[in-house]
Amino acid sequence: MGLKILVIGSGGREHVIAQKLKQSPRVEKVYCAKGNPGMKQDGIHLVDIEENDHEGLILYAKEHGIDWTFVGPEVPLLNGIVDDFEAAGLKIFGPRKAAAMIEGSKDFAKNLMNRYAIPTAGHQTFFDFKEAKKYVESKGAPIVIKADGLAAGKGVIVAETVEQAIDALEDMLEGNRFGESGAKVVVEDFLEGEEFSLLAFVRGTEVYPMTIAQDHKRAYDDDLGPNTGGMGAYSPVPQIPEEMIDEAVATVLIPAAAGMVEDGCSFTGILYAGLIATNEGPKVIEFNARFGDPETQVVLQRLKSDLAQIITDLLNGEQPQLEWKTEGFSLGVVVAADGYPEEYKKGVALPNFSDCENQQVYYAGVAELEGKLVSSGGRIYLIEAEGTTLAEAQKKVYDLLDSRDTKGTFYRKDIGSKAMK
Ligand code: AMP
Ligand code: GLY
Repeated sequence: MGLKILVIGSGGREHVIAQKLKQSPRVEKVYCAKGNPGMKQDGIHLVDIEENDHEGLILYAKEHGIDWTFVGPEVPLLNGIVDDFEAAGLKIFGPRKAAAMIEGSKDFAKNLMNRYAIPTAGHQTFFDFKEAKKYVESKGAPIVIKADGLAAGKGVIVAETVEQAIDALEDMLEGNRFGESGAKVVVEDFLEGEEFSLLAFVRGTEVYPMTIAQDHKRAYDDDLGPNTGGMGAYSPVPQIPEEMIDEAVATVLIPAAAGMVEDGCSFTGILYAGLIATNEGPKVIEFNARFGDPETQVVLQRLKSDLAQIITDLLNGEQPQLEWKTEGFSLGVVVAADGYPEEYKKGVALPNFSDCENQQVYYAGVAELEGKLVSSGGRIYLIEAEGTTLAEAQKKVYDLLDSRDTKGTFYRKDIGSKAMK
């Protein structure tokens, strides 16, 4: 009998995780709560239980003989889903609540980095608007203002001028725009350089790095427009030298994992470092306690080993074997609803991709209407392709999108282009 695995989450990240798990010959069935109807095309079994209903999920896992559960998004991790499953005697892969704080509180992450000399931007934490304002005036612009808690990517303002920075501070500390998560603000030096995402499987002090990726956070071409959850990604990132990555593993991931063990909040799960390759080496701009979206849709294509075996080994105290592709590239482009990340329309009919052979489709904000997929969220789906060059992978994605009617939606036309200049 093969493994039965439950994935928590419903986006494109969970779609690719579930698909990769399902490809394992050791796996019998992959369930996803709540998942999305686009996943059914890959034989993923949807479970209609909300991700914050820990009791419901625990009951389901017990009744269906789930061997282990994988948690995709940060919110259930910070709500203690791992602690709750473990208390119920169930196997689950992800950090406990105390360890997920590396993503849940910027202040927590900064303290960790300070204590263990992990390179990051200079920064200070503020509760008081007047003090924060004085600090920003003394520092000048550009400068970065970050709300302390989770703010779904919207809590970071890269201010070009001191006035913009002060407006953001006022908004967060006095305007209460971010609710609880804005009561505390981190003001950070602006870092100049190329951005990259370095993820790793982590178990206590053990760190197993993945190949790196680059996300595209801004909504429009040439990195213009508002910040989003991510509009596309590619992996690996040729303009980041191997030494920079090795340095990031040695100066960021390994000390972060060791520091958390030392601090009594050992991290097991996926640790994600958002980094900037500065002239002085890699520096951290954020930590996440989970896989990134859309990075995962390209990074997991680079994994040659069996993902289900890796997680099983990590859960069982065994040594996981990781092998990554050394040739070629993977590139993914997000298709979003017109208007995203502001207000957008729902219920847009989606093209049929069932005939595509050289591309993968990962669904996110989709619903089913009379047996057909329609949009239900901002980021709707991602098209991924591989190529021996980045240009070839990019062409495969855009050729497919160009051949379909994408009315009511938009996508960036320059994903990966920066790496080809
Ligand atoms: P985050 O939500 O923390 O990923 O931040 C959103 C975006 O703001 C990042 O992807 C970066 O492009 C930018 N950013 C965050 N912190 C800094 C920093 N200290 N210096 C420069 N850019 C930053
Ligand atoms: N792509 C950025 C994130 O997942 O946080």
